[in-house]
Amino acid sequence: MSRSIQAVGLDIGTSKIRCVIGEAGENGVMEIVGIGQTDSRGLRRGIVITSDSVVESVKKAVDEAERVSGLEVQVVNVNISGEHLQGENKSGVVAVAGAGREITRDDVDRAIESACAVQLPAGWRIVDRLPQEFIIDGQDGIIEPVGMHGARLESRIHVVTSPSAGGQNIVKAIHRAGLEIENMMLDALAAATSTLSDNDREYGCAVVNIGSEVTSLMIFSRGAVQHTAVFPFGGMHFTKDIAVGLRVSIPEAEKIKHLYGCVAGFLMSADEKHEVIEIKPVGRNETRQLTKEILCDIVQPRAVELLHHIAVVVANSGVQIPSGVVLTGGGSMIRGMVEIAEQVFDAPTRLGFLDLESFGGLAEEIQTPDWAVAAGLALSSMRSQIREQNYGGKSPSKKVAEWFESFREKFR
Ligand SMILES: Nc1ncnc2c1ncn2[C@@H]1O[C@H](COP(=O)(O)OP(=O)(O)OP(=O)(O)O)[C@@H](O)[C@H]1O
Ligand SMILES: [Mg+2]
Repeated sequence: MSRSIQAVGLDIGTSKIRCVIGEAGENGVMEIVGIGQTDSRGLRRGIVITSDSVVESVKKAVDEAERVSGLEVQVVNVNISGEHLQGENKSGVVAVAGAGREITRDDVDRAIESACAVQLPAGWRIVDRLPQEFIIDGQDGIIEPVGMHGARLESRIHVVTSPSAGGQNIVKAIHRAGLEIENMMLDALAAATSTLSDNDREYGCAVVNIGSEVTSLMIFSRGAVQHTAVFPFGGMHFTKDIAVGLRVSIPEAEKIKHLYGCVAGFLMSADEKHEVIEIKPVGRNETRQLTKEILCDIVQPRAVELLHHIAVVVANSGVQIPSGVVLTGGGSMIRGMVEIAEQVFDAPTRLGFLDLESFGGLAEEIQTPDWAVAAGLALSSMRSQIREQNYGGKSPSKKVAEWFESFREKFR
């Protein structure tokens, strides 16, 4: 047990900023010791538009988590978000030279580099390289090629790219909040880290993180990421539809959505459909009445439409997902989302909750899908710090072992 390890996840979203502070507990469990959440200002679709507001919101969320934990935060792990993220499967090949053609770490690095040698549009960068498998002389499915023998080493890598500016502005805002960045991780990958089991990743599973204005999809199979996509919509679309349809303000629409919203009419009994709710139209003093059924008629078609876009991408990816779909993010929490998604995806669907084999401490306090990203960022940091501690010695064999483990983590 290493109590000295402190891992901090900071999920910078368009509507909320969340901070999770964890400490390493026993058997790889992360004890959550601090949580902080604040309304987010200064972002649009995951991208910074007003840096000062983001700095303030980050400070507030981190301050709160510090107060709860009694710890001081200096280094954070941050999510990578934004509607322009793109993922593509690439492959590279290198010849293995040297005595006995034993594959070295250098050969593997070259094979990965060769797969990632992609022509990027001006102002774009690679934000992550997620290894899928290696192929040695035609033998596929290899995860750890170092030390094996062969003449030809092929790598298959899921390469994620995005415009550089979005990431740079987040980095700047965090630095201005007085914090350092340890690592940055895609939203959906962080959500998968806290909610998926190894079996989900192995057999095939899609994580759909529905935020406020951005939804990200990541499809796993054979233990690795096979597909990534980002969609420029989220829970805010339901709010806007309610605001327009009922002529109420955005805050009023948000309140109505939380209290009465349901995107699956078949979950409501006839009596419930006819239950009356009171709303306050913009610019009027008197209230108006409508039934829950009318509200459902506004949001249900939108939910089907948005989920359909994602389901088409999942189907076109060609990846089978027998472990189904896991929904995370606040947008997944509207009533009926799981049931309607199950129909649209035609696959078993569930909400993503923190895996309590990996989380302890305050985990029960944040056992809702909108905390999956922040908790996943912290968990990933804790695991990587434990690896460093275990293999931190200077000997080359220890270094290779550490590299292997961190590499394997990318397959998780
Ligand atoms: N109980 C609930 N019922 C309905 N909607 C909810 C509920 N809880 C949260 N939401 C919606 O979830 C959305 C916010 O989700 P989340 O906090 O994951 O977004 P974010 O991370 O701030 O944004 P993004 O990831 O798009 O940048 C909002 O649209 C909010 O209305
Ligand atoms: Mg989010």
